[in-house]
Parts: sequence; C-alpha cells; structure tokens
Amino acid sequence: MSYREVYESWKSDPEAFWMQAAEAIDWIEKPTRAQDDSNAPLYEWYTDGVVNTCYNALDRHVENGRGDQVAIIYDSPITGTGSKTTYAELLDKVALFAGALQAKGIGKGDRVIIYMPMIVESMIAMLACSRIGAVHSVVFGGFASNELATRIDDATPKAIIASSCGLEPGRVIAYKPLLDGAIEMAEHKPDFTIIFQREQLHADMIEGRDFDWNEVQQGVEPAACVPVKGNDPVYILYTSGTTGQPKGVIRHAGGHLVALEWTMENLYGIKPGEVFWAASDVGWVVGHSYICYGPLIHGATSIVFEGKPVGTPDAGTFWRVIEEHKVSALFTAPTAFRAIKREDPKGEFVKKYDLSSLRTLFLAGERADPDTIVWAQDQLKVPVIDHWWQTESGYAMVANPVGIELLPVKLGSPTVAMPGYDVQILDEGGHEVADGTMGAIAIKLPLPPGTLPNLWNAEKRFISSYLTTFPGYYETGDAGYKDADGYLYIMARTDDVINVAGHRLSTGAMEEVLASHPDVAECAVIGVADALKGQAPFGFLCLNAGTEKSHADVVAECVKMVRETIGPVAAFKLACVVDRLPKTRSGKILRATMVKIADGEEYKMPATIDDPVILDEITEALGTMGFPKT
Ligand code: COA
Ligand code: AMP
Repeated sequence: MSYREVYESWKSDPEAFWMQAAEAIDWIEKPTRAQDDSNAPLYEWYTDGVVNTCYNALDRHVENGRGDQVAIIYDSPITGTGSKTTYAELLDKVALFAGALQAKGIGKGDRVIIYMPMIVESMIAMLACSRIGAVHSVVFGGFASNELATRIDDATPKAIIASSCGLEPGRVIAYKPLLDGAIEMAEHKPDFTIIFQREQLHADMIEGRDFDWNEVQQGVEPAACVPVKGNDPVYILYTSGTTGQPKGVIRHAGGHLVALEWTMENLYGIKPGEVFWAASDVGWVVGHSYICYGPLIHGATSIVFEGKPVGTPDAGTFWRVIEEHKVSALFTAPTAFRAIKREDPKGEFVKKYDLSSLRTLFLAGERADPDTIVWAQDQLKVPVIDHWWQTESGYAMVANPVGIELLPVKLGSPTVAMPGYDVQILDEGGHEVADGTMGAIAIKLPLPPGTLPNLWNAEKRFISSYLTTFPGYYETGDAGYKDADGYLYIMARTDDVINVAGHRLSTGAMEEVLASHPDVAECAVIGVADALKGQAPFGFLCLNAGTEKSHADVVAECVKMVRETIGPVAAFKLACVVDRLPKTRSGKILRATMVKIADGEEYKMPATIDDPVILDEITEALGTMGFPKT
C-alpha cells in the first residue's frame, strides 16, 4: 500500500485502523474497541484492554526465541566502556529489580521518579516500573534541584531511583547532592530512594532513607508482570510550558504500545533484530519512545549512548558507533549534526568508517535547516528524514514514512501527516487557511492512540492549554504552513517556549528565576538565533533604583542563578541590563519584536506599542552584545 492509501484507510475508518494496529500487541485481554469518546473532548484508547508494557518489551521476545539477541548496547565514549545485554539477560535484571521495588512496597499506580544518566540501569528502572504497573517519571539529568523538586511535588512519588552521578565531558555531575537538595526543597517526601553507585563517584547515603541498588535486590523474588488497563498510565513526563510549572504529560499503556510498534515498522522501516539508535537522552520523550520502549516492543536492538556528537573524543564518534554496532537507522537532533559539521565540514571522519549498514537518518526536536540536511545527505548518502513531534504526541505527527514508502524529501519540511493526525493550519478565528499561508498548527480531535490523554493532576490546564483556543482541535503551539502537496512547514512557536540544542525550555521559567534576584525589578527572556543550538536564551534585566552592584555583577549572578535553579541545560549565558522593556499600552512585553531585532530581521512597529523609543534602546543594548550576528 502507498502512504496515501494507508492514510486514507485510517481516515475512512479510524476504529478499524487502530483495532488492526492493536493486533501487533500481546494483550492479556484484547480490547473490544479502540476509541473511547465517553468523556469527549477528552479521548482515551483501548480502555477495556488489559496489557503489560514490559511483557511486550521483553517477555514475549524471550518466549518467541529472541532471548539471545542483544536488546541493549551500552556505548560510553565518556567512560571508555560498553556492554551488550541480551533480551533474556535484560528480562532477568528487570524482573529482579521489579521484585525489589515490590518488596519495598511499590505497587500498581504508585509513582516513581527516575533521575539517572545514559546507562543501562535507567532502562532497567523504567521497565521494572512498567512491569509492576508503577508509573515512572524520568527527570533529565541536566535539570537541577529546583526542577526536580517541582516534579516531586507534582508527581508525589513513593520512591526516587537515582544514580550517584552523571558524566559530562571533563566533569562528573554529582546527582546525589542535587537529589538531596530537591527532597529538602519539596513539600512531598518520598518514602525512600534507591541509589545506583557508579564507580566514578560514590554518593553518601542517608541511613533509613537511601538504599543501595544492589542491596535492595538481594534475596528478593523476581516480579511477574502486573496486568494494567489500556488507559492506566505507564509514565508521566514533564515538559516545558509557558510558566515555570512544567506540564506532566501522561502516557497510557495501551495506546503507547500500539502506536510505538506501528511507527517502528511503518515510519522507521525497522525489522525486529535490527539495530536502531536514537542518540538522545532517556530524560526526553525521544528517549522514552525510541531508546527504551519502541525498539524493545518491536524486538529490535537499542543503543544507550553516553557521549556527545563531538568531543567524545572527536567528530567521528557517531560514525564509529554506526560501524561498530551495524546501526540501521540513526535518530538525532539537527543540532548534533551542526556540531559535527562545524568540527568536520569536509567529512574527513566520515570517510574513515564503514557506514554501509545505515539506511536512514531521522532528525527531530527542532527545525531541521536545509544546510544541515544537505550536508548530512552528501556525507552519509542515505535519505535524511525530518519529522515533527512533541512530548505531548509521543511520536511523529508529521513524517516521511519510509517503512511504507519513501516520499520525495522537500528541504525544510518534515513531510506529511501520519495516520491518526488530521493536521490543519488555522487562522485566529479557527478557520483553515489556504495553502502557503501561515497559521497556527492544530490537530483535529481526537488525537490518536499513544498521545497525551490529559495532564497529570491538571485537567483544567490540559483543556485551557490545548483544547480551548480552537474548539474541536488540539493546539500544538507551533505555527507554520502547508504546501499544495500537503507537506507541512514548521516555522515558529506561538508561545514562550524555546528550543535550545533540541531541548525544549520555557523562557517563562527563566524569567521567574531572574525576577527572584533581589536587584532585578523586571525582566524578559527571549530566544535568539544560534548557529549551533538553533536558539539561545537571552535575558533583559531592569534593575531596582539605587542598586549598588555593577551591571556585570548582576548579570553574572543571574547566569549562575538560572544554572543552579533550572540546570546547566538551560544554557542561559547571555543577558544585559536595560532601563526599560518595550511594552504594549496594556503592559504586554513585546518579546517577538525583540527577537526580530536580535536576529536582524525586519519588523513592523507594533501598533499598540507604548513608547517606540524603547526599541532603539533595546537595539543599542543588543548591539553592544554583538547582535544581530549577521
Ligand atoms: N547532565 C548534566 N549536565 C548536562 C546534561 C546532563 N544530562 N546534559 C547537558 N548538560 C550540560 C552540558 O554539560 C552543558 O554544560 P556547560 O554549560 O557547562 O557546557 C549544558 O548542560 C548545555 O548542554 P548542551 O545544550 O547539550 O550543550 P553542549 O555544549 O554540551 O553540547 C551539542 C552541544 C550540540 C553537542 C549537544 O547539545 C547535543 O548533542 N545535542 C543533541 C540534543 C539532543 O539529543 N536532544 C534530544 C532531543 S532529540
Ligand atoms: P519536545 O516536546 O521537547 O519534543 O519539543 C517539541 C517542539 O519542538 C515542537 O512543538 C516544535 O516546536 C519543535 N520541533 C520538534 N520537531 C521539530 C521539527 N522536525 N521541525 C521543527 N520543529 C520541531
């Protein structure tokens, strides 16, 4: 079948399409229907099915003769070590750790926060939770105590599983002090923590609260898979919204399994037994879907890579991993390729390796700029597929489904809507606009299986953030347009979310931190164009009258505060002091205009501006910082 036929088959009968797709999953009790619209506009899927995620990721493959196949390859250029874990070994490890969790009182529906780096134990922790029906919430290691504390208070976990440390090039990140700080800061206290001690740094333990990863597993029985309903949550993943309070995206078990299995075959074109490498982090949605769950549900081999595209040790690392592990498909963020291209523009490293196993490169997480795509195509000589998705969707909404057919690649476009997604471009009044016209990108409800059914403990916020602006639609927060062939182009966010090196960050959250500095009266953070990271945060600070500190000192303190409060991943390094911020007469800060000035783009004087002279002051302040860059 062609892509068009598959898409039409979904559109003409979504229920039949998703019931058919559900056949690829092993259910304890098969669902009698796919969609549940009894609470529309909130939709759920496979609600009367009974299933276990871990069973589908591990047990069934061992039962079907895949036990000796490698499930996870751990490759760590940072430590210079690696390992291979077969499906049978992984099942044993997961079942035992799940048994340890049960022995310590964790059961179905209990939340467990996981704060770990790119090591196999992170995957074991996630799968062990799924095995016993506990709901995991992984927190990215680049977030600091405050972000972790916010998530602890929202998810109210019974336990936290953490590693003693993470490793960044040239430095060891001690996780335990960050964890202790977060627990101290949070109102909710977990019953206990389990700490995986890495040899690079041994964490100090608090007697009676902290338990050792190995010790908790001694003398326990391996756990069996606990049946859960199709609409029971398998995980919560927090993502940035407009404010400092992150949104807890919920993933339900049934739809998650069906959707990921469908994409492994139809979108990524991967066969069971092949090696799929998502060079991301378990803390992000890409890591959940395509380092942990997708490849394993499909019976493929996944790579847990603890390194960077450059500097560990060089710009040839990705190619070494592809050659060594015979990777069929690589999935990463465009920023990784920009980093490699910057260090090795002529592709000298590429030539040193045998990349014949690689069939496709997939890019997502931020806009894939045509220069980067063309460079990657020229170097790797394989199709370079941009695809568009969000933490909320959990998998691609718009893509080039190479498993069905490779559609012509158009530079700058992630291609076409996937089955399940009726993607429309709407004007402010919620009407579809003509091809080629920019508008808000919205998806006609219902969203398909595997997408967020709600936000954790925040149904009102779910409805107001996503379902209210355009009734009957899910508002993606992205803006763009479609061409006459139905190809989509993603151009910008419509909210205050920015994308730094493929990491989704909230400028609102950074503003909250800056505003808490005693000398800062008012502030604004915008995302400015960055040649490597796509965007970089830039802060404007208005100081209280009579502040005695120098501007440079206040800026340095603010940079430090954001790093310590949100984490190094915020990459907040640029800020300047200004007298005033440009605003509308109703007091709204004109952030979009400031972005245009910083990026050297033409801008129209906003009709509602209170005092146009302030824009000259902003232009001057940016000029002293070297903006615009071109
Ligand atoms: N734990 C602790 N700190 C972390 C971290 C983690 N898991 N991940 C990143 N950091 C730190 C980095 O060390 C860096 O600190 P620094 O300011 O002291 O240098 C800071 O957070 C910013 O990190 P990053 O944005 O990753 O920048 P970088 O300069 O280290 O690397 C790239 C640049 C382009 C190589 C890197 O961003 C990259 O590989 N990006 C791919 C992104 C990706 O996979 N995104 C997932 C979505 S698909
Ligand atoms: P995250 O939730 O972290 O995956 O970030 C999702 C956001 O990243 C989207 O809403 C987009 O703004 C951006 N994004 C993801 N993939 C793409 C892509 N292929 N092209 C353009 N922007 C993208």
